Amino acid sequence: MQDSQPVFSIQPERAGDEPDIVRLNARAFGPGRFARTAYRIREGLEPAPGLRFTARIDDRLVGSIRFTAVAIGGAVGGLLLGPLVIDPDYAGRGAGRALIDRGLGVGRDEGYRLVLLVGDLSYYERCGFQVVPPGRILLPGPVDPARLLAAELVPGALGDYAGLVRGSAARG
Ligand SMILES: CC(C)(COP(=O)(O)OP(=O)(O)OC[C@H]1O[C@@H](n2cnc3c(N)ncnc32)[C@H](O)[C@@H]1OP(=O)(O)O)[C@@H](O)C(=O)NCCC(=O)NCCS
Repeated sequence: MQDSQPVFSIQPERAGDEPDIVRLNARAFGPGRFARTAYRIREGLEPAPGLRFTARIDDRLVGSIRFTAVAIGGAVGGLLLGPLVIDPDYAGRGAGRALIDRGLGVGRDEGYRLVLLVGDLSYYERCGFQVVPPGRILLPGPVDPARLLAAELVPGALGDYAGLVRGSAARG
């Protein structure tokens, strides 16, 4: 029997991908996205080199993930995950999970220690994220503490970080 589900592949972002990625994010998050705290941290910063990936079916871009290097309480080695977006026509096929897994693996290989994001625990816990203990890590804007999540790329890394998150030029 032939499989009717097209297969996606995870690939590094290409130079011409920006318009498709902007379109996906605008559709998913709307104009209010620029006011979100996570966007504010990323403002004016390039995503970490080598940490921007796409999901593609044939050559069509159907998903995107980016990570930004951050310092937490002045300590480097952190990443902020986002934005992550999947074309709704291709949702629920594992592309989001595959993009996260690729990013966490490459981030670990690059020497990063902790990945933060603002999102739903019920989605991200299967990728190793947990709720940050309230008050331990602070973002420069309002965030529901139940949605501030972290994944350790090095066991115990969450215990090494506390304080305010800021964009960082490098992992250190
Ligand atoms: C959230 C999103 C990235 C998921 O991508 P995806 O490729 O559809 O997800 P996957 O195929 O990896 O996983 C699908 C599973 O996640 C679940 N899921 C999807 N969104 C969820 C959410 N917000 N909360 C909890 N579970 C969620 C699905 O129900 C499905 O569950 P199942 O495996 O038990 O059937 C995608 O739906 C999306 O782009 N949404 C809009 C933008 C967004 O919310 N981005 C994340 C911001 S934090």
